[in-house]
Amino acid sequence: MAIIGIVALDRQGAIGKEGKLPWHFKADLRFFREQTTGHACVMGYRTWLSLREVPLPKRLNLVLSRRAHITRLPPVIFLTQELTAIELNDYLQCDLFVIGGASIYEAFREHIECWIVTEIPLTIEDADTFMPADFLEGFTRTATRNLGDDLTVNFYERG
Ligand SMILES: NC(=O)c1ccc[n+]([C@@H]2O[C@H](COP(=O)([O-])OP(=O)(O)OC[C@H]3O[C@@H](n4cnc5c(N)ncnc54)[C@H](OP(=O)(O)O)[C@@H]3O)[C@@H](O)[C@H]2O)c1
Repeated sequence: MAIIGIVALDRQGAIGKEGKLPWHFKADLRFFREQTTGHACVMGYRTWLSLREVPLPKRLNLVLSRRAHITRLPPVIFLTQELTAIELNDYLQCDLFVIGGASIYEAFREHIECWIVTEIPLTIEDADTFMPADFLEGFTRTATRNLGDDLTVNFYERG
């Protein structure tokens, strides 16, 4: 099914600071949950740590790490390369959400068909993780949604 990138970013394209999300907006967390529930989510190992290694409920959690891991929790699958997730996607009856962080967005860049981008109305001091400035190159905005709390979500598709 579709491979969809989902990200929240500040006015300068920042997405993270010290291994965490540098903001807390309930409306965006709710939106993220609504969009991704019932689907598969692929994330990098540092993002997995930011979730305190607790799987996102009601979603297939795919965690990328180049180190070999033993899967301890049935709802989590550790993968060592992004191609495995893309191959697995052919067998999924749901969408595959690419949920970050920066290195995972980069690894899946060529495979992402749609982007869902929440604009966070902040400029984070000393942010250390950013989206590349041109990540939406080749995409066209197809819809916009207001989440409240001054948050806007833009939907993009290739083309
Ligand atoms: N604003 C948002 O929407 C959003 C979303 C998600 C995350 N974030 C933030 O982004 C930051 C984390 O991003 P990050 O880029 O530092 O880390 P990350 O992408 O979450 O994880 C990086 C790790 O993933 C593994 N990895 C990366 N590419 C891989 C590949 N091609 N194949 C196999 N494994 C791969 C490696 O793990 P090993 O070292 O174990 O090999 C790498 O060290 C945090 O601050 C987080 O809160 C923000």
